[in-house]
Amino acid sequence: MNELNSLNNLNNLTTDPVVSVGRIADHDGKRVSLKGWVYNKRSSKKLHFIQLRDGTGTIQCVVFVGDVPPAVFEAAEGLTQETSLTVTGTVRKDERSPIGFELGVSGIEVHAPSVDYPITPKEHGTAFLMDNRHLWLRSSKQHAIQKVRNEVVMAIRQFFYDRDFNLLDAPIFTPNACEGTTNLFETAYFEQKAYLTQSGQLYGEAGAMAFGKVVVFGPTFRAEKSKTRRHLTEFWMVEPEMAYCDLEQDMAVAEEFVEYVVQRTLERCKPQLKILERDLSKLEAIKRPFPRITYDDAVKKLQGLGMDVKWGDDFGGDEETKLAEGLDRPLMIHRYPAAIKAFYMKNDPENPKLALGVDMIAPEGYGEIIGGGQREDDYETLVAKIKAHDLPLEPFQWYLDLRRYGSVPHAGFGLGIERTVGWICGTPHVRETIPFPRTMARLNP
Ligand code: 4AD
Ligand code: MG
Repeated sequence: MNELNSLNNLNNLTTDPVVSVGRIADHDGKRVSLKGWVYNKRSSKKLHFIQLRDGTGTIQCVVFVGDVPPAVFEAAEGLTQETSLTVTGTVRKDERSPIGFELGVSGIEVHAPSVDYPITPKEHGTAFLMDNRHLWLRSSKQHAIQKVRNEVVMAIRQFFYDRDFNLLDAPIFTPNACEGTTNLFETAYFEQKAYLTQSGQLYGEAGAMAFGKVVVFGPTFRAEKSKTRRHLTEFWMVEPEMAYCDLEQDMAVAEEFVEYVVQRTLERCKPQLKILERDLSKLEAIKRPFPRITYDDAVKKLQGLGMDVKWGDDFGGDEETKLAEGLDRPLMIHRYPAAIKAFYMKNDPENPKLALGVDMIAPEGYGEIIGGGQREDDYETLVAKIKAHDLPLEPFQWYLDLRRYGSVPHAGFGLGIERTVGWICGTPHVRETIPFPRTMARLNP
């Protein structure tokens, strides 16, 4: 049985089976109890319409004066937003309902009142809503985004599990910088200094040499001073890493992966995407192959479009959006100048000024969702690169061991969960895609 009957009946409030709104269709015509909160209510002389949400969905509960004792009708009259309650009644089909059913109420039991709930159906500013994030999560759009996030994460895990990647959990406290030193969070670690991880990649590389294919999945941290709609200081990243893999194979996995995650989420999240008013045709179009362009050609293209870009510049949000404009699928930009990429990237043997790296840019202006590429596998070259990036050699000795003992070509990438969820949901700002966002300006709630 899928319902948590025994758990929910601990209070012995009812003898009717306690069911969830999400599975209401299994109980058509039956008498059931629902446990939840008042989402909204409207009344006329003889009727109260209570929108009850229980976390799995929202259902209209109809209290007709002729169906219930006067005390129950009166209790329904006084129900305020977010009052917690058990409602008992009969499930009946209703064509006008978004979920196809409503409840004909016979009894109501209030658990706890809710007085002056701050988030009302009227419009509120984002700062106010973010201050009340712990409550805002109950609202239908925020709830829908988190349901999509849940499915995105499940799809990610399934994709790698089905393809024999071993999960490798990387540490959060680290001795080294992975993605440059400008946005490191430093913290005291007893007598030493530690940094909050910017990426699990270096540990993923150790894992790839032990397991062949691994996937690291966890929170990552960057002291981002930029206040953009794409940057958080704490975000989740999934990072596959593969031994005996080059850039071409890496890009093939990235594109298969993104297609899978989008299509599976689309298949399973239609009701949520409807609440979010997402144009589903945009997601249906996310099928392989994805277009590819080299950095060299991307610069020429941008210059042709009249943008002020020189070879050697990194691309920002504006350049990415311009390059992806008019495309219905993500764009993969590969072979960036080595000088603007991380120390661990392998140089292109055909042109050492280039790094064998790739960024994947989502369509519709959602920006970079993936960064990755082939890793430097030669010991001497890697030592030189660490020095050239002004990084201390000592904390990288363990990482250099991976090149001392049976080094092989290897590659991987990292996908940002929040940007991916934002793109799939059509939510432009990443702060709404994580339950409790952390940005330069926000540490609460
Ligand atoms: O491009 P990035 O910095 O790549 C890495 O960290 C590599 N070590 C990954 C690897 O090869 N294993 O970050 C990867 C992705 C970005 O494409 C973006 O989606 C996301 O992580 N990301 C952020 N998301 C939200 N807020 C931020 N501040 C982010 N920084 C990166
Ligand atoms: Mg990047």
